[in-house]
Amino acid sequence: MGRDAQTKIEQLTNLSPLIEAATASSTRLLTSQSIDELLTIVPTEETITEAEASTQRNPQTLQATLARPETGQAIGRTIAPITPNEPSPVPRPHGLDHYRMQDFPMQASDIDSEIEIHFDITGSSRTEGKMADIQSFFGDRLKQIRNQLISGGALPRRPVSIVEAWRNRQRHTSKDYEITLVGLASESRFTRAGNLSFALEDETQNIQCSLRPPSGASPLHSALDGLMNDDVVGVSGHFLLGQRSPLFMVSNIHLPPMRQHSKATAGEDQAVSAAFLSDVHVGSKTFLGPQWEKMIQWFNTDPLARTVKYFVLSGDGVDGVGIYPGQERHLAITDLFAQYGELARLLEGLPDWVDVIILPGNHDAVRPAEPQPALDPEVQQDYSDAVFVGNPCEFSLHGVRILSYHGKSIDDFVAGLRSVTYSKPEMAMRAMLERRHLAPSWGGKTPLSPEPEDRMVIQQIPDIFVTGHVHGHYVGNHKGTTIVHSSTWQDQTDYQRMLGFQPKPCILTVINLHTHESASIPFA
Ligand SMILES: [Fe+2]
Ligand SMILES: [Fe+2]
Repeated sequence: MGRDAQTKIEQLTNLSPLIEAATASSTRLLTSQSIDELLTIVPTEETITEAEASTQRNPQTLQATLARPETGQAIGRTIAPITPNEPSPVPRPHGLDHYRMQDFPMQASDIDSEIEIHFDITGSSRTEGKMADIQSFFGDRLKQIRNQLISGGALPRRPVSIVEAWRNRQRHTSKDYEITLVGLASESRFTRAGNLSFALEDETQNIQCSLRPPSGASPLHSALDGLMNDDVVGVSGHFLLGQRSPLFMVSNIHLPPMRQHSKATAGEDQAVSAAFLSDVHVGSKTFLGPQWEKMIQWFNTDPLARTVKYFVLSGDGVDGVGIYPGQERHLAITDLFAQYGELARLLEGLPDWVDVIILPGNHDAVRPAEPQPALDPEVQQDYSDAVFVGNPCEFSLHGVRILSYHGKSIDDFVAGLRSVTYSKPEMAMRAMLERRHLAPSWGGKTPLSPEPEDRMVIQQIPDIFVTGHVHGHYVGNHKGTTIVHSSTWQDQTDYQRMLGFQPKPCILTVINLHTHESASIPFA
């Protein structure tokens, strides 16, 4: 509208930008003023030439300038790289101060593998899940750990059954006449006064107990840390009668004694290493493929890798299908067999001197109740050079005893003990060793199979204790046992992000079986 507007329009070499700008800003009427406004926000021949000239004068303004369409450049600004980051090469092991090649003295290809399996439930699960099975399962747990308490000298006197103690309760009503009981603890909670209250049950009866934290007790003392449901413990104390409900006042709580463990070592002529990993979660969209390639490259080129004879995968090798509601959205491979096929393909990249040991986890295609049997023979077909075992599994490599457990019960330990958090899974592992049980709580987050013999009891202290499941990473020592919390190959999931949990993916733990030196190789 108006002569001025007409003149301005006639001067333009290309009308399209003006029309686009007018459409985009819903400008219906082109007046001299609205044309000026529109021209300030659209690139025209004139403004582009002007912008280019000013860009040359002042390069910082480049980002604010739209490229000409005919240049083929992207219209817009680049605020993040479009191509994925290529992983940087692995740092050479030599010169890294956390390990020395002298501690990894032998080439894996120089000796034959020597795997001796001590416990694996595969093929020997014997339970119908009936009440009688559950009773014998707990009865056996009580018997096993009670024997450990007695033979280890943990108790100040011979323990009596709860029913016998109750019968003679009048004789044990003061600190001077204490008595010792052993039973399964349940319903533990902290009272407002700061005492730990719990029920103790043996084959005969149950009794309500109260434990006051001893002065100067460590935060790891059961009175402050708490008890897991169905823990087997010994208690010394006396009865407090005359209350509405009688109470057993605990002066001392006993766990099986754990002395400094002296580790077995592989001979000098068998000084190879074992590598530990868990939770690869193949099939998940968050599986870290390029980092896996990087590890395979490392295995085929690095001197330290030449010492690795065993590769232990402690469960959740694949992400599985139907493990949690809505999982399909997070899957890159939606077929379970295709997931296992892909894991087999990924492991094919390992050099042929490496033997793989595979346990199942809670994402795998086996029964969830622990102990879990090994993966199905149909799945195993795809794999060469792999040994399939159950979860947990106790085995020795050249005489070094390893207890590998996927670690589902860490979820229960986080809920049950004050000292355990998801960022400190090693505290759960410490607690498992101390109470000689991998997964005490029935009816919690860990499904248990009520076998007539409770094989989740830690019968022998291992030289190396390995778990996974919570996607952290840790290597350390607890009273002489090497504790390894294996890393994952899965990036942070939506669920973990929601919880604010930061996983520690792509770290391979290597332990020499002769020197017991460890190395943690990061591939992230
Ligand atoms: Fe996992
Ligand atoms: Fe898991």
